[in-house]
Amino acid sequence: EIVSEKTGYPADMLGLDMEMEAELGIDSIKQVEILSALQAQYPGAPEIPGSELASMRTLQDVVNSVAGFTGAAAPTETAAAPAATPEPTPAVGLSCTEARLRVVPPAGFAMGGLQDGEVVITREDPAFADALEQVLVTRGIKARAVDEVPEGAGSVISLAALGAVRTPEECVDMHVRAFHAARAVAQSSADTRVFVTIQATGGTFTGGDVPTGIASLVKTAGWEWPNASVRAIDIETLDPERIAAELLAGGSGVEVALRADGTRLVAVEEVDATEVGETIPVPAEGVVVVTGGARGVTARSALALAKQHGLRLALLGRTALQPESADEPAGTTATEIATALASAARARGESLSLPQARAAAEKLLATREVRETLATAAQQGTVAQYFAADTTDREALHASLAQVRQSLGPIVGLVHGAGVLADKRLEDLDDDGFLRVFCTKLIGAENLLAATAGDELRFIALFSSIAARAGNPGQAAYASANAALDSIAAREARRRGDNCVVRAFGWGPWDGGMVDATLKSRFTEAGVGVIPIGEGAEFFARHALGRAPATAVVVAAPAKPQLRSTTLAWDISVENQPALADHQVRGNVVVPVVFALDAMLNAVRGLIPADAPVVRDFHVLSGVTFPAGEQHALSIELTPDEATYAVAVRDAAGRARYSARIDSGSAADQPVSVADAGHGAWPFGVAEAYAGPLFHGPAFQVIDELTTFGQAGGSALLKVKGEAGWTGGEWATDPAALDGALQLGILWASAQGMPLVLPISIGRAVFTAPFPASGDVRCRLAAFPLGDKRVDYDIVFETTDGAPIAALEGVEFYVAGNADGATA
Ligand SMILES: NC(=O)c1ccc[n+]([C@@H]2O[C@H](COP(=O)([O-])OP(=O)(O)OC[C@H]3O[C@@H](n4cnc5c(N)ncnc54)[C@H](OP(=O)(O)O)[C@@H]3O)[C@@H](O)[C@H]2O)c1
Repeated sequence: EIVSEKTGYPADMLGLDMEMEAELGIDSIKQVEILSALQAQYPGAPEIPGSELASMRTLQDVVNSVAGFTGAAAPTETAAAPAATPEPTPAVGLSCTEARLRVVPPAGFAMGGLQDGEVVITREDPAFADALEQVLVTRGIKARAVDEVPEGAGSVISLAALGAVRTPEECVDMHVRAFHAARAVAQSSADTRVFVTIQATGGTFTGGDVPTGIASLVKTAGWEWPNASVRAIDIETLDPERIAAELLAGGSGVEVALRADGTRLVAVEEVDATEVGETIPVPAEGVVVVTGGARGVTARSALALAKQHGLRLALLGRTALQPESADEPAGTTATEIATALASAARARGESLSLPQARAAAEKLLATREVRETLATAAQQGTVAQYFAADTTDREALHASLAQVRQSLGPIVGLVHGAGVLADKRLEDLDDDGFLRVFCTKLIGAENLLAATAGDELRFIALFSSIAARAGNPGQAAYASANAALDSIAAREARRRGDNCVVRAFGWGPWDGGMVDATLKSRFTEAGVGVIPIGEGAEFFARHALGRAPATAVVVAAPAKPQLRSTTLAWDISVENQPALADHQVRGNVVVPVVFALDAMLNAVRGLIPADAPVVRDFHVLSGVTFPAGEQHALSIELTPDEATYAVAVRDAAGRARYSARIDSGSAADQPVSVADAGHGAWPFGVAEAYAGPLFHGPAFQVIDELTTFGQAGGSALLKVKGEAGWTGGEWATDPAALDGALQLGILWASAQGMPLVLPISIGRAVFTAPFPASGDVRCRLAAFPLGDKRVDYDIVFETTDGAPIAALEGVEFYVAGNADGATA
């Protein structure tokens, strides 16, 4: 009954042996909905883990999953079904953005999991694979170049994109190879999963003539395997040393471009691209060929485009257009029509299985949709004709376009909207599914461009998806196919210059087309808005012919941002960071609090597009010390929590030693202000301070001058790291100056007669401008003693001219038992 209610099929037509997807058209999302309904009715039934859903093929499998629980509890009331005909959606305000690569210098952290087990490198470019293997082995990684990814491999570096590609078919093969590598990792039972792809498309992800959408496969894998480490690297000039450095010391970032000039860029930023320039002139009554243009959202977009620009439409699709017949079954949904067809057959004493009836119903609905599109075109005065052709069939497409020119006139524009879905998580996606989705987009686009090579095209619009930009669980093929379209757009724009406007529209979900009611409710639940059909179509009509620098944009309804979890390996040692030699207590290096703070900021830089992320609620849970001669392994774990990252620095045993939250900051994040603390003098000089309360060795002796002192606080001039002689190291802040400020906190308390105090937490850290590379900064602190065991400070850093640099607010210091556990 539940299946009947959720799908609309009469219960007596459903057989337990029916395949849900293949025979009844119940997709994975619907399956989850059905299972959830069962869970709700039989609360005692076991939760079915997502990984097991894929193995449920028939209705019997579903029944088995709750068998034994059907009497466990009284069925609960079923919620009322939503209204059948939704109101037309009001405009939501669409955003149109372009991805921008942002310079994010290496942070010094390795990808999590890379050092744990064997890493296989695929050999599509054998010489490079072998060279990379060697470099990685030299750096202590168990790397092995292989011709085929072995079963069970948990860590794979795929060089699929480095293989030679001369034809669209070879381009498909290249993507299939990358998909196979990803699927092997998906199916592996290894504890850690690492998936890296390397391409050489100019360090832009869209350079070169071969459309490459592999980075979006990686982005999808990252969503599907939350604890994995994934990275797509586009390197301008192939260099195994540079790749090894990126993997072992790059830091965060899922899409990383390594440019020949030595810069490292990460695709982490999106900039507004709503503005379009002048509309390219198109001949009146020019013909636009629109694949997939007779149905779905492309149909609505094509109609709006034709109306706005006075164009003719040649609409292409696979559906055969049948004239309307008097005995067409009633019903408006596939389920209603299939039911009617099956009942009619039964009444005639014929047998028509539900799956056969459903296929016939879907065909009929498609035909009706094509007819409706043509009728709407006629109503609005647009000349439109339908051509039944599969865009993946080169010959058929050539023949159809010849007919188009003959019966409608010269072709002036292309819209490639043909697309199909076959959503499956990587481990379950078979080659057929991958190819169907991928080829409809890529081969379709290449065929279309080849078939119109002799036409004077003024615009080319490719229907891509936000899945290409962000990746989307269950859509590895779809995301990479659309990313390949984005790269075709870039290629065609380069080739065609000013003569043609080329753009890939990466749509967010629409309120229609592929997005059915179930899918829509999923999006809504996840905080992702859908594009109202009319608003999306109008947007397309306004933008498709407008000159603009961006060749691939994402157009979407408002949605909550989605952050990715990441783990990085932070190996800390005196060898890597010589200044630490001067931060020891009795032979043990004490990791400075500010190193942990800096590491967190450094780790987050490839994930959020903020110049100055804000750190909140930083806590030292248990300070880290280690013997001076050793390397100490820590990991930095970034876990999304709404728009914030929860950050934990963990030790090798997994215990969190430091924690904080980091976000991009907001207008409300004005740095705290600190009033001048009077004009008194500190009761001791700098040399005395370092001989007394402060244990710091030369590299950390950064207090240059103790300036003013009073009951409410004090000030000092602090050396920045360059001035203190720190060389090398990748820093997000200036840990020398930051440490100097914490030293000042110790000194102020000491000057008040308190025993040694040490910092334990920071309420908020705001970084407004970079610390200077050399010289001093001024530091002022306001002190708030709380009893005899605690003192809080607000601290600001300024240039010597008084320009703000950074602020630490609510820094809590507590009396330490002795200096052994010193964490300052
Ligand atoms: N709806 C969304 O939320 C959304 C979001 C992002 C991107 N998009 C993109 O927008 C486009 C349209 O999507 P939609 O939602 O309108 O999907 P849809 O309703 O399923 O329409 C897909 C269209 O593609 C045609 N088609 C599929 N394979 C074809 C082939 N081999 N040759 C020719 N035509 C083919 C279909 O016609 P036949 O079945 O008659 O062949 C149909 O007209 C797709 O490219 C999709 O990826 C949609």
